[in-house]
Amino acid sequence: MAFHEEYKAQILSKSNLPEHVAIIMDGNGRWARSRGLPRTVGHEHGVKAVKKIVQAAGDINLPLLTLYTFSTENWKRPKSEVSAIMKLLYKTTRRELNELLENNVRLITTGDIEALAPSRRDILKDAIARTANNTGLTLNLALNYSGRLEILRAVRNIVKDVAQNKVKADDIDDAVFTRYLQTNGLPDPDLLIRTSGERRISNFLLWQMAYTEIFVTDVLWPDFDEDDFFRAIIDFQGRERRFGKIKTTGSSKGS
Ligand code: IPE
Ligand code: IPE
Ligand code: MG
Repeated sequence: MAFHEEYKAQILSKSNLPEHVAIIMDGNGRWARSRGLPRTVGHEHGVKAVKKIVQAAGDINLPLLTLYTFSTENWKRPKSEVSAIMKLLYKTTRRELNELLENNVRLITTGDIEALAPSRRDILKDAIARTANNTGLTLNLALNYSGRLEILRAVRNIVKDVAQNKVKADDIDDAVFTRYLQTNGLPDPDLLIRTSGERRISNFLLWQMAYTEIFVTDVLWPDFDEDDFFRAIIDFQGRERRFGKIKTTGSSKGS
């Protein structure tokens, strides 16, 4: 039975909606294997889950959804699987562009998309350009992404800028560093969801997740639906985020 209308109302009745939800969409391969199907069929069904969750995110007025779509380490998979994933990405972007436009979704990416095959990259860039003025959900695809590489690149660029006197070494603080990251301008994730039961970060948004709330579910990504998504949000809304401080009661001054 679908609970999503009830869940949606419950979420919207509260004020502490996350601003940014990031998802490690994991378990496509296992989903397929458990059905005796090739891994690529799992990825195809994973796309269906993406469609559902993008819609659900829009329904609760979520400002930003980041989906871990392809990591730099994923290139190490068999060539046939990598090319099936890339094909799926490009086909889906083309096929869903109108839907993104109708739903006022703005598409952006984080990661090195310049390294993708030019034909595919251009389809993505076209979708990014055509949705750039949309004001609803921002859908951020982490694509050819590595958290460590992102940090290393930031360091290299800072070092260059210091050498050229564009920035002073002593002025490099949290805010300055953040501007050198690929996520420059985006808020840090409030909530990370990982499907398929794995309890690890897998090189995702390492800097940005310093204080992110983590929600792990055993559901495999192709089975992840609106109800699962809304349950994760409701769970988040019930948490107390302290950011290293202590719970604020009457007097907020410590001794
Ligand atoms: C996630 O599912 C999709 C990508 C990493 C592209 P997996 O393909 O990792 O599925 P499992 O973890 O092998 O089940
Ligand atoms: C993380 O999943 C990457 C994506 C979901 C795109 P992986 O399946 O690649 O991660 P590990 O290998 O289980 O850590
Ligand atoms: Mg996996």
